Amino acid sequence: MSVHVQNSRMTTAKLRQMKQNGEKIAMLTSYDFTLASLVDEAGIDMLLVGDSASNVVCGNMYTLPITVDEMIFLTKGVVRAAQHALVVCDMPFGSYQVNTDEAVRNAIKILKESGCDAVKLEGGEEIIDAIRRMVQSGVPVMGHLGLTPQSVNQFGGYGLRAKEEKEAEKLIHDAKLLDEAGCFSIVLEKIPAALAEKVTKAVSCPVIGIGAGNGTDGQVLVLHDMLGMNQGFKPKFLRHFAKLADEVKGAVGEYVSAVKDGSFPSAEESY
Ligand code: KIV
Repeated sequence: MSVHVQNSRMTTAKLRQMKQNGEKIAMLTSYDFTLASLVDEAGIDMLLVGDSASNVVCGNMYTLPITVDEMIFLTKGVVRAAQHALVVCDMPFGSYQVNTDEAVRNAIKILKESGCDAVKLEGGEEIIDAIRRMVQSGVPVMGHLGLTPQSVNQFGGYGLRAKEEKEAEKLIHDAKLLDEAGCFSIVLEKIPAALAEKVTKAVSCPVIGIGAGNGTDGQVLVLHDMLGMNQGFKPKFLRHFAKLADEVKGAVGEYVSAVKDGSFPSAEESY
């Protein structure tokens, strides 16, 4: 019996090829089957089940509370939706920082139970042994440097990172380490554009930016933010590609009126 493998599926090798060809990579977050199906159909290269689900789906202030099992639950729906995109699941806070064995065990658990293609972790040299062991175990790993929201309590906020030379040098050092350790890609969040471009040229793997300018190999945004669903949130790096908050509220308002004035359901909408 042979298992059919769709060769239109995105792979880490194809992403590397895209970098070499100078073809930009588009990535968005997704947290559920229905929206992920639409995003996948629209031609996205990678779907990230970000731990931003803690904010977007669960309404928490920070990404810190979400758990491995909650990430697996959400990722399963996105994996079922993805016909083309490569699916990456964030490893949540606490699932890889304690020690290397626990980190590798959790990465394997996430890959096995959710069916995702890869995991993403925040950090550089501090977690490099865990990343090496994951890659050696067959787990594709995406790195994440710059503004790493799981360290919000250490940073004291979500401001621009690596403005100073010392932090910029550490970031370049960390990016090279992640590349050498076998990360198939690295996310750079909220750092100066010139630094992001320098890192992108210094590493062999594709670099995906968010708030990191146009010199990276690709871009990622939080889906609900770029669709204009998160009304109060409009940092400089974010572009609203739609105004879904207005659309949703308009449609719901019309529904409420139609129910209350008795015009819904009509005779045609009844059995
Ligand atoms: O969790 C997330 O949404 C992310 C992106 C902002 C890169 O990590």
